[in-house]
Amino acid sequence: MTQTIGIIGSGLVGGAVARLAVDAGYRVVLSNSRGPETIAHLIAELGPLARAGTVDEAIAAGDIVALPLPLANFEALPADKLAGKVVIDQTNYYPEFWRNTELDNAELTSSELVQRHLRGSLVVKALHNLD
Ligand SMILES: NC(=O)c1ccc[n+]([C@@H]2O[C@H](COP(=O)([O-])OP(=O)(O)OC[C@H]3O[C@@H](n4cnc5c(N)ncnc54)[C@H](OP(=O)(O)O)[C@@H]3O)[C@@H](O)[C@H]2O)c1
Repeated sequence: MTQTIGIIGSGLVGGAVARLAVDAGYRVVLSNSRGPETIAHLIAELGPLARAGTVDEAIAAGDIVALPLPLANFEALPADKLAGKVVIDQTNYYPEFWRNTELDNAELTSSELVQRHLRGSLVVKALHNLD
């Protein structure tokens, strides 16, 4: 069983997922778009089971990779590097921020859109409520 979860996105949801994972005894490698040095404070709060890395390092660290980043950025994810991983899709579609015709027309769900891009990964939709 995997001991380390890679996390791409270190905002509200990424931080919450990291806290839950660390509290459950997992190691986490958190990444974001600006670089590992920008989340030093979050890593310090999470303690010794957490470290910061690049997106590539977060992907390489675990068999499970969580995606708490805006859906609009899904095409920036490196499909080749995520191949073979279980990917937890934590994105939501907010058309007021970003539009996608296939989603607007209900031709695909947002997770099917992510899965089509991450063709070699197993994408699992996360359902959560941070309220
Ligand atoms: N907030 C909620 O209550 C909630 C609940 C359920 C689901 N969601 C969904 O969860 C996702 C994240 O929400 P959030 O509230 O956590 O957003 P957020 O606080 O804005 O955090 C987004 C994170 O994604 C990172 N990111 C963006 N593009 C990236 C890229 N190409 N590569 C690596 N990292 C990237 C950002 O990095 P930088 O900081 O470096 O820009 C940031 O760390 C969204 O899809 C949202 O719809 C949110």
